[in-house]
Amino acid sequence: MASAALLTSSCVLFLLLSYRSHLANGEVQSYHKVQRRSLNPGAVCSPLKGSNVTSIRLVSRYGPCSPFETKELPSPEQILLKDQLRVNYLLKGVVKSQLNDSLASIPAEFGGGEYVITVGYGTPSREQTVTMDTGSDLSWIQCKPCNKCYSQQEPIFDPSQSSSYAAIPCNSSECSQPRGSCSSSCAYFIPYGDGSNSSGVYSYDRLTLSPNDVIEHFLFGCGTDNEGLFHDAAGLVGLGRGKQSLVSQTSQLYHSVFSYCLPSTSSNMGFLKLGEPSDASNTVYTRMQTSSKYPSFYFVDLIGISVAGEQLAISPSVFRSGGTILDSGTTITRLPPSAYEALRSAFREHMSAYPLKPTNGLLDTCYDFSGYKTITVPKVALHFDGVTLDLNVSGILRHDCLAFSGKQVDRLGIIGNVQQRTFEVVYDVGNERIGFAPHACS
Ligand SMILES: *[C@@H]1O[C@H](CO)[C@@H](O)[C@H](O)[C@H]1NC(C)=O
Ligand SMILES: *[C@@H]1O[C@H](CO)[C@@H](O)[C@H](O)[C@H]1NC(C)=O
Ligand SMILES: *[C@@H]1O[C@H](CO)[C@@H](O)[C@H](O)[C@H]1NC(C)=O
Ligand SMILES: *[C@@H]1O[C@H](CO)[C@@H](O)[C@H](O)[C@H]1NC(C)=O
Ligand SMILES: *[C@@H]1O[C@H](CO)[C@@H](O)[C@H](O)[C@H]1NC(C)=O
Repeated sequence: MASAALLTSSCVLFLLLSYRSHLANGEVQSYHKVQRRSLNPGAVCSPLKGSNVTSIRLVSRYGPCSPFETKELPSPEQILLKDQLRVNYLLKGVVKSQLNDSLASIPAEFGGGEYVITVGYGTPSREQTVTMDTGSDLSWIQCKPCNKCYSQQEPIFDPSQSSSYAAIPCNSSECSQPRGSCSSSCAYFIPYGDGSNSSGVYSYDRLTLSPNDVIEHFLFGCGTDNEGLFHDAAGLVGLGRGKQSLVSQTSQLYHSVFSYCLPSTSSNMGFLKLGEPSDASNTVYTRMQTSSKYPSFYFVDLIGISVAGEQLAISPSVFRSGGTILDSGTTITRLPPSAYEALRSAFREHMSAYPLKPTNGLLDTCYDFSGYKTITVPKVALHFDGVTLDLNVSGILRHDCLAFSGKQVDRLGIIGNVQQRTFEVVYDVGNERIGFAPHACS
């Protein structure tokens, strides 16, 4: 009886699959059929293909492309903890710590993000590998003389060795420190919601992003006190919407446009590009939205989700009530609970050929794929106002789990970095729109 039922359901699945793949030319197929192996990173780093673009190399801080010496891939548990730290980091002050005590003993990096770029600070230019962060504005690096610095890959920046360095004076309009407490030069302090922080002298210097992208008088924090869970990276570059961010500072030069492509695995390279996107003709746009509560974040109008070509019955108002941000530093996408439940149940239905395996924490739909060489995964598409994002399989599964969660904080939806992989994501801040171009990196 049981085997008959199994036979019937696999027959149905087979028929469904063959029906879908026999759809007329041009019809979008409803399933990804992939080698299981292709979901995992390779042992060596593959360079960016067709890298004629004048872009900045963007890589994961873990895995074979990482410039750091410590590059072990985090365990699934560490990723979950990192994502909790990330949410705390993003929602500083708004939400008190959400850290789960049962996870707190796992060592993890701070919530500042996963992707790094190597840039040059000063004259002569000194290489510094920093985290790219779309969730904050102020850029900073560790600086000598250190009062408190953590260990980093490259030598710590010494402003006294740079001919183009200057501290910002107290009376400058760029100094936000209250006059009364400012002596000689302007101080900055930036606390993140995950408990880490950086403080020191607000300064400017030449920033060399690539041979073609040199920014004079770049304002940044020269951090002499840096505390928390930072590791290896020299600091971060802030790509948020606020006025201290790299995007705002270079709006004359790049018209407030930047884009990036996050690679499908940590053994591939991606890119960051300032100015016009590299694949402008294939970019489709949706409106960028604004929130007075979170002025630095990039909000998008998520209105629906499809599984295997069928749109789930979720009202757009479910997504709109708390809003949805696009974030480069959060790994797993967070959806409103009812939207997640609808996604999970449709996804599980299409994946019924594979055994579920027990899980804990953020992810609850994980499969035991052992014994399978190829797997067939229903396509998942995100619908934004004006754009449908048909996710690559690397944007659906992570560690053999459905890479979405229904655990929101402050009712905020987050499109995480897993889902953005392989798209060129374009932030056109001037025209208040967000664009996507598929197949931008592998
Ligand atoms: C690379 O860029 C140059 C100059 O922009 C252009 O002439 C050339 O066709 C490009 N090559 C490829 C393969 O895209
Ligand atoms: C700031 O103070 C210096 C001298 O202390 C003065 O030369 C400069 O003009 C002042 N700048 C502004 C913007 O007030
Ligand atoms: C900076 O972070 C450290 C480590 O989390 C913490 O002990 C310290 O109190 C923080 N400093 C401030 C001023 O909040
Ligand atoms: C904390 O984690 C445990 C085990 O992973 C889980 O059972 C519990 O529900 C979590 N608590 C919160 C508040 O997320
Ligand atoms: C999609 O993901 C797979 C698996 O990680 C990868 O091999 C492939 O290159 C990706 N597709 C595109 C278009 O980048």
